[in-house]
Amino acid sequence: MRTRLDTIVRSAQRSGRAAGAFTCYDLATAAAVVDGAGVRGDGVVLLVSPSTAATPYGQTLVRALRTVADHAPVPVSVQLDHASDLDLIRQTVEAGADAVLVDGSKGGYEANIALLQEARQLLAGHDVVLEAELGRIEGDEDVAAQIAAGSAGLTDPAEARDFVARTGVDLLAVSIGNVHGSYLGEPVIDHERLDAIASAVTVPLVLHGASGLPAHTVRRCIASGVGKINVNTELRTAVLERLAATVPAALVKGANLESVMRSWTDEARDQVSRILASFAAE
Ligand code: 13P
Repeated sequence: MRTRLDTIVRSAQRSGRAAGAFTCYDLATAAAVVDGAGVRGDGVVLLVSPSTAATPYGQTLVRALRTVADHAPVPVSVQLDHASDLDLIRQTVEAGADAVLVDGSKGGYEANIALLQEARQLLAGHDVVLEAELGRIEGDEDVAAQIAAGSAGLTDPAEARDFVARTGVDLLAVSIGNVHGSYLGEPVIDHERLDAIASAVTVPLVLHGASGLPAHTVRRCIASGVGKINVNTELRTAVLERLAATVPAALVKGANLESVMRSWTDEARDQVSRILASFAAE
């Protein structure tokens, strides 16, 4: 059933867990993500990246994902991820997304706040959950390049307090050494900073770039107040590896696309259920 993203997150937190959010580029993966969440009965978030939403069929995909959410046996929300284009945000919400990460992190602090305020005005009348990003998470949401975390863009706890008060956001994505894509070397997460941010705000925190973080690090982040964890690279890479192993044999056997799709969705479902099982506080 379609459920508000903040409700999914707070319910996960009440049971000492974080909700998982997975990037979906297509309908079959989205259905597999819901199946993977259904294994444990968890709520889950279907993420659509802005590059996908802006393709010619992007809005059709969002409508399809909303249908998946509406009919799912577990709580599901559809979120437009990392969006800064107000027109794309409006279109995607009208197509059925019920949450948006309004991402003004690439501009300055005041510009980030102004973008959130504009988005809120634009979406007045829609029941939409807003997430914001404060500080800057390095890397590309859609590409698994090796990225080193920079110290310049880390979230400042005092700013976080002011930012949440002025924008009224429902969730806050933090930059604490996490990056999108693959980590260059050992990830170094600034847990003291995370604790200070968690003490400064009352909204749930969001950890982007979870792919490649050790399980104990993720557990510690959940114990500190992270209520939602975004995953793309880990799921995408597992599916691609499975396809690399499956497609050559399928071509030899007469190229049965249905069996290839099944290996794709089985892999996505199993990965999601495995990853969600690890999203518990220590
Ligand atoms: P990863 O690709 O590093 O898992 O990050 C995904 C993400 O944070 C999407 O918002």
